[in-house]
Amino acid sequence: MLIVMTDAAAGTHAWLDRERSSEERARLFVDALTLDEKIALVSAPMAVPPPGEQPPPGVIGSAAATPGIPRLGLVMIQETDASLGICNPNNVRPDDTSTALPSSLLLGATFDPELARRGGEVVGAESAAMGFAIQLAGGANLIREPRCGRNFEYISEDPLLTGLLAGAAIEGIQSQNVLSTTKHFAVNAQETGRVVVSSEISEVPLRESDLLAFEIAIERGRPGSVMTGYNRINGVQASEQEFLLDHVLKGDWAYPGFVMSDWGGAHSTERAAMAGLDRQSGTQLDREHYFGEPLADAVRQGNVPTERLDDMVYRIVHALLVVGVVDRGKPAEPDLDTHQSVAQVTAEQGIVLLRNDGTLPLDRNARLAVIGGHADIGVLSGGGSSQVSPRGSTRIDATSIAGFTIPKTYHPSPPLAALKAALPGTSMTFDDGTDHDSAALAAGAADVAVVVVEQWTSEGHDVSDLGLGADQDGLVAAVAAANARTVVVVESGGPVLMPWLEDVAAVVEVWYPGSRGGEAIAAVLTGRVCPSGRLPVTFPATVEQLPRPRMHDPSTTTSNPGGERVGHFSEDYDIEGSDVGYRWYEREGLTPLFPFGFGLSYTSFAYSDLDVDVAATSAGVREVTVTLTVTNTGEREGIDTAQVYVRPPGQRSARLAGFARVKVGPGESRRACITLEPRVFAGYDVALPGWRWQVGTYQLAMVADGHAPALRATLELSEWTSAP
Ligand code: BGC
Repeated sequence: MLIVMTDAAAGTHAWLDRERSSEERARLFVDALTLDEKIALVSAPMAVPPPGEQPPPGVIGSAAATPGIPRLGLVMIQETDASLGICNPNNVRPDDTSTALPSSLLLGATFDPELARRGGEVVGAESAAMGFAIQLAGGANLIREPRCGRNFEYISEDPLLTGLLAGAAIEGIQSQNVLSTTKHFAVNAQETGRVVVSSEISEVPLRESDLLAFEIAIERGRPGSVMTGYNRINGVQASEQEFLLDHVLKGDWAYPGFVMSDWGGAHSTERAAMAGLDRQSGTQLDREHYFGEPLADAVRQGNVPTERLDDMVYRIVHALLVVGVVDRGKPAEPDLDTHQSVAQVTAEQGIVLLRNDGTLPLDRNARLAVIGGHADIGVLSGGGSSQVSPRGSTRIDATSIAGFTIPKTYHPSPPLAALKAALPGTSMTFDDGTDHDSAALAAGAADVAVVVVEQWTSEGHDVSDLGLGADQDGLVAAVAAANARTVVVVESGGPVLMPWLEDVAAVVEVWYPGSRGGEAIAAVLTGRVCPSGRLPVTFPATVEQLPRPRMHDPSTTTSNPGGERVGHFSEDYDIEGSDVGYRWYEREGLTPLFPFGFGLSYTSFAYSDLDVDVAATSAGVREVTVTLTVTNTGEREGIDTAQVYVRPPGQRSARLAGFARVKVGPGESRRACITLEPRVFAGYDVALPGWRWQVGTYQLAMVADGHAPALRATLELSEWTSAP
C-alpha cells in the first residue's frame, strides 16, 4: 500500500506549491489549520494491531500513525522502526521481505561512513516503498554500559565515530524522501529501569561525550526529528528537559526539526510543551493523552501560547517538506538483491578478527566440525522495536514488553550452509552443542572445529553479566580440549567475556550480522574477505573494571513503558564523565580484554612519513590534518583503519580525533590524509560558553589496530574557541 501526496492535490492548495520555499509552505499550512487540526498533528498514536489481527484499511500497522488533514491534502503520517530495517511488529506482514542490516554496533566496527550511508539508503528505500513517512532510526546513544540490552542499536562508545556514522545513516535514509529520527536524546545508557532512572551528569562531561555524538550526527545527517529518551537527566524527564531541548538542541545547535517523545515517555502537557517537546508519540502508552485535549485547553487558557503550538506544527510540517516526504512521487520498487548485498558487504567489513594463530583463513582441505549457536538455522539478531524479521526467519518466543512478544529471531542465513557453499567438497559435520561430550567427539574427529556461541540481547532488558550463559563457555572449553585448532565465532549484542581465550586458535566477533550474516561469516573464515573490522567498544577483562561494576536490580524497578512507575533511582555518570569506554581504561590504568579500535587482519600494515599541519579555514576553524603513509607489509590486499588519538595537555586520556580506511595491495603504500575533529580535543567551557583549546602541547598517536601506537607526534596549539 502506498500513501503519497498526489499531483492532483498539489494544484489545489497553496502550501503544496513546489515553487514556494519550504518555510513559506509550512507557514501557509499552519495558517490554514484550526486549533483542533493543529492538536491532531502533534500526537502519533500507536498503530500496531493485536497479534493475528489486520490493521484498518489505509493503516500499514506500525509504531505510529498520525491522521492526515484531507481538506488540505495532507495524508496520514505513518512511521516505523528503526535503524536496522523495517520492523514487523506482531508479525503484521507475515511474508515480509525487508532487508535486515547488521547491528549498528557491527556498522560501528566498519569505521566506514559510506557503508552507513548505503545502509541508510536501503532502509529509506524499503520504508518509502511501504508508504512510511518517518523512520525511527538513527540510534546515537554512547555505549557507557557494555551490559545494556540495546547496545546493538547503537554505534560505539566514542562520540566522533558514533556521530559520523549515525549522521551518514540518517543522510542515507532521508535521501529516499523518508524523514529520519535520531534517538534517544540523551544519556539513555541502560535498559534497567529505563523509564524511571535519572542519569546524573554535569554539563561539561555531558557536552564532551553524549551530546557531542548527537551534535555531530545532527550536523552531518540533518534528521527531521529527534526522539527523547525514556530516562530522566539530572532528575528531569527527557521529554521535559528544557536545558537539553530548548537551550542546547534548539538554541545552541539551532536545530530546525521537531522533537518527539519516546513511546510512553511523555509525562505532562504544559511542562513538556514549554520545554521543547513538539510531539507526543505512542499516546496509548502514556498515562494521559497530554498533547490531546489537555493541550487544547492549555492553549485556550493561554498557559501554552498559540505561537508555541504553531511552532510545534510548523517544525513537523517543515521537516516533512525539507526531506521531500510531502512531494515524493511513487517510490521505486526496492531492489532487494542489491539491498541484500549491502547487508552482506557491511557484515563482511564489520566482522572483527580478535585472535588468530594462523588457523584462519581455513585451509580448504581441512575437515570441519561446525558446532553450536544454531549455525544450521540462521544468525541471531537483537530483540525489541528494532527487530527486522524477513521471510524465513526462525522465531522463538523469548520475552514481552508492553504487551508485545519479543521473539529471539534468527535470520535465514545459516553459517553452516554458507560454509558448505564456500567450501565445496570439504567434509563438514554439525553438532548442535547441547551435549558437550558429543561436541568434543565431533571436534576431535575434525581438523578444525568452528564453535558458534551467542549472546541474545533485547530492548527492555540488560544482560546481568558479560558471560555467554547456557554453559557455552563449558562448550568452548570442551571443544578446545578436543581440538587445538578451535575457531570461536561470537554472535553477540556487545562485549562478552572469554575465559577460554588462551585455549583457542582463533576468535571472530561477528555481532548480529543481518540478512546475509552466514555468507559474511563464511567469507571471512575462508579468506575470500580479509578481515578489517575494528572494535567500536572496549571488551572488559571483568565487570569489576567498569565504572559501575554492579547494576541496579531489575526486579526492583520499571523498565516497561506500559507498566506502573516504581523503583525510581539514579545512575552516577560523573564517575567516568566524558571518559567513556577506552578513555576510562586509560585514565584508570586498566588493561581490558580487547581495546577499542582493535582488530586483526590476514595481512599487516606499517606507518611512516608523518605530517601534521594546522591551518585556519575561511570559517575561522583551525583545521588539524594528519597525513601518513600506510604500507601493506603482508602478502594479500587488505584494508587498514588508521586511527589518530589526541591527548590534550594535562589530560589523562587520549581521544579518537580522526580515522581513515585505506585499501592497500601487498607491498604497496598509500598516503592517508585525516582531518581531525577540533571539538574532540577541545574542552567545553561553561563560562565561555563554548569549546576551547588549551594552549600547550598535545600528544598525537597513530594507531593501526588498537595495539601500541605505530607513530607518535606532538603538536603545539595556541588558544582557539568556538560557540557551543
Ligand atoms: C523505543 C523506540 C522506538 C519506539 C517505537 C520504544 O520502545 O524505545 O526506540 O522507536 O518504541 O516503537
